[in-house]
Amino acid sequence: MSTPHAAAVKTEGLRRTFGDFTAVDGIDLDVRPGEIYGFLGPNGAGKSTVVRMLTTLLEPTGGRAWVGGLDVVAEADDVRFSIGVALQEAGLDENMTGREILATQGRLFGLNRSEIADRIEQLAPILEMRALDQLVSSYSGGMARRLDLAAALMHNPSVLFLDEPTTGLDPPSRLRVWEEVRRLNREFGLTLFLTTQYLEEADELADRVGIINAGRIVAEGTPSELKRAIGTDVVTVVVDGDADAAKSVLEGIAGIEGVDVFGGEVRVGTENGSQALSPVAIALGSAGIKVRELSLRTPTLDDVFLDVTGTHLDAGSSAEGSST
Ligand SMILES: Nc1ncnc2c1ncn2[C@@H]1O[C@H](COP(=O)(O)OP(=O)(O)OP(=O)(O)O)[C@@H](O)[C@H]1O
Ligand SMILES: [Mg+2]
Repeated sequence: MSTPHAAAVKTEGLRRTFGDFTAVDGIDLDVRPGEIYGFLGPNGAGKSTVVRMLTTLLEPTGGRAWVGGLDVVAEADDVRFSIGVALQEAGLDENMTGREILATQGRLFGLNRSEIADRIEQLAPILEMRALDQLVSSYSGGMARRLDLAAALMHNPSVLFLDEPTTGLDPPSRLRVWEEVRRLNREFGLTLFLTTQYLEEADELADRVGIINAGRIVAEGTPSELKRAIGTDVVTVVVDGDADAAKSVLEGIAGIEGVDVFGGEVRVGTENGSQALSPVAIALGSAGIKVRELSLRTPTLDDVFLDVTGTHLDAGSSAEGSST
């Protein structure tokens, strides 16, 4: 049995309702110190609501949660001093410079002038140096996110919460945020709890991923554990006509298991995709089913999501998880 104090983040049956709507439906988390934990889920899954409860901005309506061993309700003030938070909506004051925002944040946490100056010096590499004295209104989206990240780190927290740190960023800015997250974790041993709608982000960054859908954790593990559960390879078939008929044909092939239909697409999990391709084509052909598309790839976290929810995790604004 693990005590709440051993974990960086721990929850037991964490719930949040709004009226008669349940946004977070009994979540158990156990994030180890020094871990990068990725919370992956579609719009409205409950990610921000969990983050807001863990960061004391919203009270749970059920269950319990601890951050660094501190109860987020009973010890909320202590929790606030031990965590950093960069929320989905940054809400930075456009009329201040980066340096002013960092200094304000430092004062809020009781740092003195020289501590503030030292800390800004340490955190400056996160931003471009010259941006520090420019008004936030002149920042790009990516720079604003990095300033928000730096502000969250002013008081040297031990756990950092990032709510969708790269949503809306272009790929180069996203990469820079990823690099920064990795560096903070590696060099300072910071525990990171980040939410994302991007499967690629969870895959790349997180030591462990919790997939959240409709307020519940539907799968959890390292990205490779999660993908291995699907099989080594994935063969997808798009047919003209009845996908369910194709499914029953494919289920009859020796060595093939795990045939599922999602929309018009038939997905086959297999240990050796290249050996499965021609039996699949031949079986469908002799059953008179016309194949429009046949492809082979390794599983993605989207396949994991599809497996547990029956729908695609479609973040919309990226081509991740496309099968070619
Ligand atoms: N204050 C509130 N009052 C009523 N419903 C709310 C409130 N806050 C969140 N919800 C609802 O709870 C659900 C979960 O919302 P939440 O913001 O946690 O999702 P999310 O996973 O962060 O989504 P996104 O990826 O869009 O940020 C949504 O259906 C949302 O409409
Ligand atoms: Mg959110």
